[in-house]
Amino acid sequence: MHRFVYVSTATQELSAQQIADIAGACHRNNRRAGLTGLLVVHQGKFMHILEGSEKAIRRQAEKIQNDRRHRDFRVIEAAPIEMRAFNSFTFVHETPKALPLLGNENTAELRALMPINSPLRGNDLRVRHMVRDFLASFKQLLGAAA
Ligand SMILES: Cc1cc2nc3c(=O)[nH]c(=O)nc-3n(C[C@H](O)[C@H](O)[C@H](O)COP(=O)(O)O)c2cc1C
Repeated sequence: MHRFVYVSTATQELSAQQIADIAGACHRNNRRAGLTGLLVVHQGKFMHILEGSEKAIRRQAEKIQNDRRHRDFRVIEAAPIEMRAFNSFTFVHETPKALPLLGNENTAELRALMPINSPLRGNDLRVRHMVRDFLASFKQLLGAAA
């Protein structure tokens, strides 16, 4: 079992359709590949946590890193793990309801991730700290992510 965590930046301002397309790809592929985790999209920044077999992660990470919709990858963790921190894959956005999603994607609102004790942050302390640090990088979220 492996975990891969990175942050990146959207190449251009993403339309609601582009964001929905990314969520759709996650939904389409991750469950089938046995990948769990979180993708947070906020103000042109991504934080992505993927957990699963090393092979599945390597295959997906290669595709994702070649995706022209984002750049400036900063890998935060790429390492073997004992246990998953998540039992499904969730796409997090400020207003998922405003996106042209197909409707069966597993989504959550960003504000549900804000409470320090949010179960959406996963059940591993290191991972929870990564989510906290990402949220803290947005000035206007600072108070909520403390
Ligand atoms: C920030 C970001 C995160 C992405 N995360 C995933 C992901 O977790 N799973 C996935 O299948 N595709 C993800 N994608 C999309 C892939 O880069 C790629 O477009 C997609 O997997 C192609 O899927 P398809 O072969 O089913 O068309 C992501 C793209 C971006 C820009």
